[in-house]
Amino acid sequence: MPGHSRGRGVPRIIKRIFRQDFLKFDLTEVSGLDYLHYAKGVIKEAEDLAADLYDVNRTFFLVNGTTAGVHAMILATCKEGEKIIVGRNSHRSVIGGIIASGANPVFVHPEFNEEYGIITNLTPEALENTIKQHRDAKAVLITTPNYYGFQGNLKEMIDIVHRYGMYALVDEAHGAHFPFNSKFPKSAIEYGADMVVQSAHKTLPTLTQTSLLHIVSDRINSDMVEQSLAVIETSSPSYIFMIFLDLVRREMALHGEELWDRAIDVANYARERISTLSHYKVVDENVVNGNDIFAFDPIKLTINVKEIGMSGFEFESFLNRNRIEIELSDLQNILLFITIGNEKRDIDYLVKVLKMANKKEVSKIERMPDFPVAGKQVFSPNDAFNMDYEVRDIMDSKGKVSWGIVAPYPPGIPILAPGMEITNEAVDFIMTMYRRGGMIQGAIEDSGKIYVRVIREA
Ligand SMILES: Cc1ncc(COP(=O)(O)O)c(C=O)c1O
Repeated sequence: MPGHSRGRGVPRIIKRIFRQDFLKFDLTEVSGLDYLHYAKGVIKEAEDLAADLYDVNRTFFLVNGTTAGVHAMILATCKEGEKIIVGRNSHRSVIGGIIASGANPVFVHPEFNEEYGIITNLTPEALENTIKQHRDAKAVLITTPNYYGFQGNLKEMIDIVHRYGMYALVDEAHGAHFPFNSKFPKSAIEYGADMVVQSAHKTLPTLTQTSLLHIVSDRINSDMVEQSLAVIETSSPSYIFMIFLDLVRREMALHGEELWDRAIDVANYARERISTLSHYKVVDENVVNGNDIFAFDPIKLTINVKEIGMSGFEFESFLNRNRIEIELSDLQNILLFITIGNEKRDIDYLVKVLKMANKKEVSKIERMPDFPVAGKQVFSPNDAFNMDYEVRDIMDSKGKVSWGIVAPYPPGIPILAPGMEITNEAVDFIMTMYRRGGMIQGAIEDSGKIYVRVIREA
């Protein structure tokens, strides 16, 4: 294995796309190449170099994305029936990890930035209030920064979590680049989280699916984390993924600072140029408020298009027609981000296209509906997942208990989780996002209607 013998057996069309040299590295655990899940040789060496660079006790290379790291953090700290406190703004992988472990989630509601219409972060106060009511919780999982690069007050939140004797786990999927330039927010690693997971593939120049899980403190049983990863992840890890993780680590160690200086320059150039255009408002560090937005990632480029009279979704289609692909759009904004592969001429083209947009006379822009507070958790997600479900029109599901995860995208945050009561507010939010052009992940769409899976009543 693999069945192509170092590229020789692949179809000709694949040979044309990928150079033979590249395929030669698609290897498996032949002698000298170590085992990801029992790493003692070259993989361990590479992981140790990454741990040195990130200044942590131990780093695990992940080949199944940050999702695998989130699952492992939860499995390694929370057993069946134990409580875990999580942000209501968590990614669906958090719900997945909770289903796998059998833990009981307690949700903390995040803040909302009215100016841009963006869900931000938890506040330390909201977190502490919840912790006080659930002092028996084992762990707290905080997700920050958000997609738009808004980081919460990690120092205070982690201090609070530790004061109550719980594990502080951080989903820093959007912050793998933070340690490499002092103009970035500080990583959760520096703030003393117990474990931190980062999607290397989101902001570093590596391949999709490659992520990093860091054990920062001595309170974590690293053997338990390793065993959890061995349960969750594939037993056939891609060596190409691992080579990318290792060589990108090397690049960051040698040239990270200057590469990110250049990218930040390009992002600042973009902000300067876009802020001179009429009808566009671009997010900058003034968004920081010392509370739910404590730091801002300068490579994120959020452009508010409210004044042009188009929703972010419509604006994204306009950009696509002009050969620009973006990260995401929401009701009021488009989000792009500057990688170390971007140059000022990319921005010049973006600005040229922005200038071509015609302002609409009638503004259709609506505010994002209120983000619904989590419904009552009637069953643990794991219990719910083991029950039977039936499919119902969402309008006919109020008061029922959700069987599945339903996450309108954007913002991609689960509004319904297994075992959670379906509230009127949750249904309204999902339907509003659907009518305004959002995609409802985890629901079934048919002829303009939305159907969800609910627990079948006996
Ligand atoms: C905050 C957050 N956490 C976790 C994930 C999962 O990451 P991955 O796609 O690497 O599995 C994502 C992906 O978008 C994310 O945005």
